[in-house]
Amino acid sequence: MKFFLDTANISEIESAISMGLIDGVTTNPTLMAKEGGDWREIAKKICSLVEGPVSLEVISTHSKGMIEEARELVKIGPNVVIKIPMTTEGIRAAYVLEKQGIPTNITLVFSPNQAILAGKIGASYVSPFVGRLDDIGEKGMELVSNTLTIYRNYGFKTQVIVASIRHPEHVLEAALMGAHIATIPYSVIKKLASHPLTDIGLERFLKDWEKVSGI
Ligand code: E4P
Repeated sequence: MKFFLDTANISEIESAISMGLIDGVTTNPTLMAKEGGDWREIAKKICSLVEGPVSLEVISTHSKGMIEEARELVKIGPNVVIKIPMTTEGIRAAYVLEKQGIPTNITLVFSPNQAILAGKIGASYVSPFVGRLDDIGEKGMELVSNTLTIYRNYGFKTQVIVASIRHPEHVLEAALMGAHIATIPYSVIKKLASHPLTDIGLERFLKDWEKVSGI
């Protein structure tokens, strides 16, 4: 299972890379805005730090504008993936870009039918948003499981990025379902490592070690 970091924050990316956990990064306009400063410089830095794919999102709403933006965005780094919203215009743009060898990530996916479209046009990645579905009382992970079933039924090559992850349970379920990738906020990565029994166990070991003579 691949882990992407869902952030545009350079220190978070550096920290996760130093733990050997990160296979790629996903950004979006909200995450970029949160960092402030020159987004192009931030994107360039992320692309140079990360060995794997880095998703950068277009903001045009028409296919022509999306394609033009994509052609500029790919100049930022060799590992750029163009993140495109799931609309008919987005699908049109992604179809053209994939044909030209530019990888796309279809984002803001909330239904299996939307995921079918991404698979059919041969998008490199699709991003079902599980947390935002949970937020409105739907079952986010059900979307992932349906998408994986459909893709397996038809041999679609599109890789499923489980997105809008809120907690470790999402990551665990994604792994059990065999999702290709989870894009995870840094705060959730830290939670994956922690368990109260680990803390208690470590504290006890260290206390007992104080009793060992000769230290
Ligand atoms: C996906 O690529 C998005 O950047 C992200 O997962 C959105 O998550 P949110 O619902 O926490 O904003």
